[in-house]
Amino acid sequence: MQNKRRLSQENSFSMNISIATVFPGLYREFLQTSLIKRSQEKGIVSFDVVSFASFCHPKERLDGPTVGHGSGMAIRPEVIERMVNGQEEKHGFAYKIFLTPQGRKLDQKLAVELSSLFLKNSHIMLVAGRYEGCDDRAQSEYADLEVSIGDYVLMGGDLPAMVLLETVMRHIPGVVAKEDSIEQDSFMGPFLDFPTYTVPPREWKGRQVPEVLLSGNHAAMNAFRKEKAVLRSVKEHFGWVRARCIKKDDKKLAYASMPAHYVVLMHDHVLVQDGVVGTSSVTSLDIHDIARSCSTYGIKGYALVTPLIDQRKIVETILDFWHGAGIQYNNNRAEAVELVSLEESLEKVIAAIESKEGKKPLLVATSAKVQEGVRSITYYDQSIVWKEDRPVLFIFGTAKGLSSELIKSCDYLLLPVGGFTEFKHLSVRSAVAVVLDRWMGINLSRVD
Ligand code: ADE
Repeated sequence: MQNKRRLSQENSFSMNISIATVFPGLYREFLQTSLIKRSQEKGIVSFDVVSFASFCHPKERLDGPTVGHGSGMAIRPEVIERMVNGQEEKHGFAYKIFLTPQGRKLDQKLAVELSSLFLKNSHIMLVAGRYEGCDDRAQSEYADLEVSIGDYVLMGGDLPAMVLLETVMRHIPGVVAKEDSIEQDSFMGPFLDFPTYTVPPREWKGRQVPEVLLSGNHAAMNAFRKEKAVLRSVKEHFGWVRARCIKKDDKKLAYASMPAHYVVLMHDHVLVQDGVVGTSSVTSLDIHDIARSCSTYGIKGYALVTPLIDQRKIVETILDFWHGAGIQYNNNRAEAVELVSLEESLEKVIAAIESKEGKKPLLVATSAKVQEGVRSITYYDQSIVWKEDRPVLFIFGTAKGLSSELIKSCDYLLLPVGGFTEFKHLSVRSAVAVVLDRWMGINLSRVD
């Protein structure tokens, strides 16, 4: 009885998916395998795989040479027209998706959107081009959506069509038996799925299944899984996390999984003129403005380095203000200035971090210019730095920037920040804000 009810519920979702291809044989095994096969048996979906060739007249070719530079072949528009008309006559009006490298990138969000679309339309058409693709006129005429599965070019749209089906069909009710497992899938929220293990074996090649997962304590198991999921997401997929982290609790969890970051502003070992290394003067704004940027992005400490006694006195006077009368004047600024320390050398900053964190920090230089002799990293390379599991120290230079000797002594050099112009003279205060935002700022990909 229960089975019958489920079946009739599933039948109400019944949809037809036409797949137009040059190579229908590719889909034979695919559609007869696992959950895709079962979803047809359950009456949730039916597939109609058609060959472009079957819409050609005798001796007519399905493809034609492309015009202009670069020779190649593409599927001819009249063949696409006949295929669309033929399939719509058979199954009714279709929502048409063309698989192309230029299309909207397939991700979990699009997969979920498409699953609702699949449920609303009784006929979906997937058009898998080959060679140079489909004639652009026919594509523009018929495509409701173009989808790409990634920034690379395949020999045709057939694997992309299968990839699309594999991900979209998971979200159609009745296809995956345990629907709550879909909610836990990687890429559904800001964090990826947690690691999975089978038992037996409890131990494999010296690797144990984590004890807590065998404990039967569900609260402890969930906490462990969440912690692992967050850690691995932050370390390996930070771009995804920062694009999705909306809730305060999720932000807190993500932040707790990042290594400790520090900032130092150098007034020594900087270029005072082109090719001349020396010391620079402190600037009062650099103290509280940079402190505010550091507070915003969760930097654990911000040090100013100057070996000059008179310059140190100026900084001390300003810090005294913020530790005293400044609290009344502007409490937020005073709070941010709590992060500030004054040191006479970079070595002392490094030693202070090492003694606090128990590990030497990785040194990340910043510069307005690229430089040889040190490994350059980009703002997509958090995983390279964070996998070392050490604190991170960003080093900024005043005057005309850090000396090249200092840069070469660092572990990494971050690429310069900038726009599409040749003007490369950001103030160091602005550069710190931009760099911190690019490195560890929230960068939502959608508004909910
Ligand atoms: N056809 C060829 N390459 C493709 C890609 N990356 N995505 C979708 N369709 C394609």
